[in-house]
Amino acid sequence: MRNKITVVGAGNVGATTAQRIFDKGYSDVVLIDIVDGLPQGKALDIQESGPISSSDAQIIGSNDYKETANSDIVVITSGIARKPGMSRDDLLLTNMKIVSQVVQEIVALSPDSILIPVTNPLDAMAYQAYKISGFPSNRVVGMAGILDTSRFRTFISQELNVSVASISTYVLGGHGDTMVPLIGQTIVGGKPIAELIPEDRLEQIVQRARDGGAEIVNYLKTGSAYYAPSASVVQMIESILFDKNEILPCTAYLQGEYGTSDVYAGVPVVLGQKGVERVVEFKLTEKEKDLFEKSVDSVRELISIMSTS
Ligand code: APR
Repeated sequence: MRNKITVVGAGNVGATTAQRIFDKGYSDVVLIDIVDGLPQGKALDIQESGPISSSDAQIIGSNDYKETANSDIVVITSGIARKPGMSRDDLLLTNMKIVSQVVQEIVALSPDSILIPVTNPLDAMAYQAYKISGFPSNRVVGMAGILDTSRFRTFISQELNVSVASISTYVLGGHGDTMVPLIGQTIVGGKPIAELIPEDRLEQIVQRARDGGAEIVNYLKTGSAYYAPSASVVQMIESILFDKNEILPCTAYLQGEYGTSDVYAGVPVVLGQKGVERVVEFKLTEKEKDLFEKSVDSVRELISIMSTS
């Protein structure tokens, strides 16, 4: 029997995620959106690509959550995206309401599912999804760090002209602007990155990765990135479905790890069948600790705005 994955939000990120999962063929997909006809039309279009991509999976689009019952994994992309000049935080209160409503619908019908929030501002939305769902924290895990590291790895690969597969790195902290790259854990073909790229140049590359989302928003003007974000979601899905226990940077609930509690933040986690199997702790430099704390503080600020609104 194939798995069942629901993707809520049939916009750019949601529809691209649905298409990527469908193409792999290992899971049926339900695509949900509030706009009548949008998920139905996109799902049918994707379904009709099956004979060409050799996928026997079934995909349906609907405005009705009944179709989502007993999903194994639910990816939440519903909400508004950034326009030029907006920060992810500008989306907070609108997306908080949308994510809360979606999570309530989902948990009623898929009480054993694993939730992957993608909607921004991601760390705050993951926290909200965790609180509203009542799920254990291992079953609510957000997508951000894989995208941030993928951007960072892309730029390092271009700088050094080596395969992306030879570059391993981790980031901590909030998505994007406050991301903390772990330079000591950034290894290219066994060599620490500091031996390969001068410090000032490396700082420029880090900054480009931090601003990676904004760079794309400025080009697109009417929306934000979705190809790399959807690929990042699929990497998480495969680590969970196939119980791979990959160590991936994700947005996870912290309970004392990295010296902080009751907050969602980007950390490396072992991702397997249960969702977050455990948080992986790295020894941080004083500078990294400082940046991580600042990043967590900015997530806490958003959480407190949500709790008072
Ligand atoms: N229930 C279901 N779907 C909803 C709801 C809701 N309550 N509210 C909005 N949506 C749908 C919209 O109708 C739209 O189709 O969410 C979809 C969002 O799609 P896009 O506007 O294309 O945005 P996208 O680029 O996919 O980004 C979605 O992911 O990366 C983040 O910052 C990004 O928060 C944004 C989210």
